[in-house]
Amino acid sequence: MSILLTGGAGFIGSHTLVELLNGGYDAVVMDNYSNSSPKALERVEELTGKKVKSYTADISDREALEKIFSENDIKEVINFASLKSVGESVEKPWEYYSNNIGGTLTLLDVMRKHGAKNFVFSSSATVYGDPAEIPIKENCPKGTCTNPYGWTKWMLEQILIDMQKADPEWNMVILRYFNPIGAHKSGRIGENPKGRPNNLMPYITQVAVGKLPELGIFGNDYDTPDGTGVRDYIHVVDLARAHVKAIDKLRENPGCFICNIGTGQGYSVLELVNTFQKVNDIKIPYSIKPRRAGDIATCYASPEKAEKELGWKAEYGIEDMCRDSWNWQKNNPEGY
Ligand code: NAD
Ligand code: WQD
Repeated sequence: MSILLTGGAGFIGSHTLVELLNGGYDAVVMDNYSNSSPKALERVEELTGKKVKSYTADISDREALEKIFSENDIKEVINFASLKSVGESVEKPWEYYSNNIGGTLTLLDVMRKHGAKNFVFSSSATVYGDPAEIPIKENCPKGTCTNPYGWTKWMLEQILIDMQKADPEWNMVILRYFNPIGAHKSGRIGENPKGRPNNLMPYITQVAVGKLPELGIFGNDYDTPDGTGVRDYIHVVDLARAHVKAIDKLRENPGCFICNIGTGQGYSVLELVNTFQKVNDIKIPYSIKPRRAGDIATCYASPEKAEKELGWKAEYGIEDMCRDSWNWQKNNPEGY
């Protein structure tokens, strides 16, 4: 029996693949490489010593999905495949709704036809909008998203909840990731954004490697201890391990299980920059810029449910994240 990882060549997918293969699970990958490289899978083979079976295919392509499901014994799917740039989603809403929602609906339909009704979904803290409570518990109401990307996660969560209610044979594990950064400690796989990075850590590492002149810090007048935005950064290897636990959870037939995946600890932009400089002994030039539209002041998780009900807890700290992000970038200045 194999677990299908859609988008398995991406940042979180490739790290999850390593943890699954090292844990003795069988996995098959499909990816359309719209935001990744097949080289990531070669590196996973190198790290695990195992052959990775993969298909170049789109989750919207019903025929390709039929072929994958008929050639493999798949009962569980982890759906990483998604477009994920917040800014781009504002410019290309149709592409985001079509790829993320349309694609996932096709995938779910093929899954149920093949009796594979076990699904792990990559959701996001973005569904809380400007959160009604800090730290954020899972029962905090979903908020108002400020961009189409966020709405795709919000809407897909609702679709999964409704499908599971109507057909209890489904098991849905919805993981709400906070801010994944870091990389595998080997420096062989990591985050590989195309074009100018939108997220903070890849921006910092590209300044560190000399590809970008300086970091702009988006606002220092938030209601936070130093005025810059506070987030719950989580090491991607910890996040990957949460997916191994999610597969174990699926096998207990949980119905619909929704869980935050964060550390429970918030760090400001300045704290992250300062830690990166200290741990790696590199200067990051920065200047303060206006606030970025749609940003919130503070966002961090209550990780209690993950610990009690998923049996998962983050092990790595902010220094590990800064060290491993830089180790990946300096060894792969041009990415894959
Ligand atoms: P990523 O872009 O590195 O990985 C996504 C992968 O999906 C890529 O390999 C891409 O080529 C593939 N893909 C996209 N559309 C596809 C399609 N239609 N068919 C097949 N493959 C397709 O992103 P990531 O950071 O690894 O994110 C993985 C998942 O986690 C995404 O669903 C993302 O929305 C979600 N997520 C990410 C973050 C984050 O900050 N990185 C936070 C919360 C949630
Ligand atoms: C973090 C902090 C910025 C860049 C986004 C998505 C969310 C999720 C994770 C997928 C904020 C500040 C950033 C820069 C800066 N993705 N910043 N200069 O916005 O918390 O979350 O990624 O689901 O949906 O919205 O992450 O890394 O962009 O920003 O000052 O060049 O860094 O203002 O305070 P964010 P981020």
